[in-house]
Amino acid sequence: MGSKQQQLIEQVTSIVRSRLADQGAGHGFDHIQRVWRTARKLQSLCGGNLIVVELSALLHDIGDAKFHDGKERSKEFSIEILTQQGVAESTVAHVAQIVDNISFRKRESAQALSLEGQVVQDADRLDALGAIGIVRTIEFGAAFGQPFYSPNAEAEKTGIGHFHEKLFKLRDLMNTDAGRLMAKAREDFMRSFVSQFELEAAGEG
Ligand code: ADP
Ligand code: NI
Repeated sequence: MGSKQQQLIEQVTSIVRSRLADQGAGHGFDHIQRVWRTARKLQSLCGGNLIVVELSALLHDIGDAKFHDGKERSKEFSIEILTQQGVAESTVAHVAQIVDNISFRKRESAQALSLEGQVVQDADRLDALGAIGIVRTIEFGAAFGQPFYSPNAEAEKTGIGHFHEKLFKLRDLMNTDAGRLMAKAREDFMRSFVSQFELEAAGEG
């Protein structure tokens, strides 16, 4: 990658870092950085335009609805930031289409994703799995008063319930073979964690 492109990535990274500075718990800059790294890795295995992959990974949660009164503003903010950086119009449009269509919430109404979009979506979903996924679920529960585990799981929402309702379904939703392989390893780890947790909770572990 040319040094001009590298400079652009560094600029956008620093803008995203400062904008997300006050967002904690699983959705701060740490999440963005992991998604960016995983997306680069998947791109090296699956192909796609690297600059589009990197920019989309960096910007995919820049206007997350949770932090903007329920309104998803990532597309709008991405266009603003990239235009300001002098990025070519076709690249801005491609990144905007990706960040506007990768969220789990939107999946019923989402437009088809390009290879670059599929790579970034897989990277984002992988961050909800594995050891990191367990921690993010616990952090979410702590922020919203939801227990991780309840002996009376039927009666209340729990973190382990969230594993079953959403996270264990992600593997089948992966777009790329490389993403699916990583998802399997991470899901297997989560399942063994849940088994051990349940043994200990029952006084048998
Ligand atoms: P993203 O926008 O990065 O795809 P989300 O905003 O959907 O992720 O969720 C952030 C993190 O919080 C994820 O790890 C997710 O699994 C977790 N999470 C989301 N909803 C719940 C829930 N109801 N209970 C527990 N954890 C949740
Ligand atoms: Ni995300």
